[in-house]
Amino acid sequence: MKGFIVFEGCEGVGKSTQLRFLEEYLKESGQEAVFTREPGGTPLAEEIRQLILTKQMSAETEAALFAAARCDHIDNLILPALREGKIVVCDRYIDSSLAYQAYARGLGEDFVCKMNEYALKNCMPEAVVFLDMDPLHSWRRQKGKVVENDRIEKEADEFHLAVYKGYKALAEKNERFLCIQTDVDKNVTAGRIIEALKKRGIIS
Ligand code: TYD
Repeated sequence: MKGFIVFEGCEGVGKSTQLRFLEEYLKESGQEAVFTREPGGTPLAEEIRQLILTKQMSAETEAALFAAARCDHIDNLILPALREGKIVVCDRYIDSSLAYQAYARGLGEDFVCKMNEYALKNCMPEAVVFLDMDPLHSWRRQKGKVVENDRIEKEADEFHLAVYKGYKALAEKNERFLCIQTDVDKNVTAGRIIEALKKRGIIS
C-alpha cells in the first residue's frame, strides 16, 4: 500500500530511536504521518498485546493472537489513515510474525501466511526498513539496559539468533525490504534510512 512504511529488527537494534528520528524529519519537512506499533495501535490490540507478552501459550496461539491484533489495527487505524493520504509508519508488522513465529518458533511460513491472510486483506507495506546489526551485539545491548524483559524477550540467545536469520532470509527474497546497516552513530543510521525511503519515492 502506498505510503505504508514498517520498521523491523531484532531486540535492541535501536528501532525506537530511529522511529523518533524519522518522525522528527517528517514533521520538519511538513509530511503528515501517523506513527503506530504492533502488537497494539488500537485499544483492543493493546489489550491483546498484554495477553501475548505476559501469559504462557503455545506458538500457534501466539501467532493467532498477533494476527487478531493486526486485524483490528488494520481495520481501525492503518487503512483509514492510508485512505486519507497519510504516511503510516508502523513499528513491526507481518514480517515480525514471519521472523519470530514462522522461523524462530518453527511454525513455518505457510502456517503464518495462512493465519494472516484474512487479517491482512492485502495491506502490505510499501517498504520494510530492516535495521541490520550483529544479533548477539544487539541482544547484549538489550540485556544490558532492560530491567524487566517480557515473555518473548526472555527467550534464549539461540532464539534471537534464529529471529535474525529469519529476517535475513526474508530480506533476500522480498523486494519490500530495505536493509539498513546500523552505524555506531545514530545520526548516520537515520540518514541512511531517510535516503533509502526517498530513493524509493515514499517520502520526500
Ligand atoms: P515490544 O516490547 O514492542 O518489542 P520491541 O521494542 O523489540 O519492538 O514487544 C513486541 C514483541 O513481540 C517483540 O519481542 C517481537 C514480538 N513480536 C512477534 O513475535 N510477532 C509479531 O508478529 C510481532 C508484531 C511482534
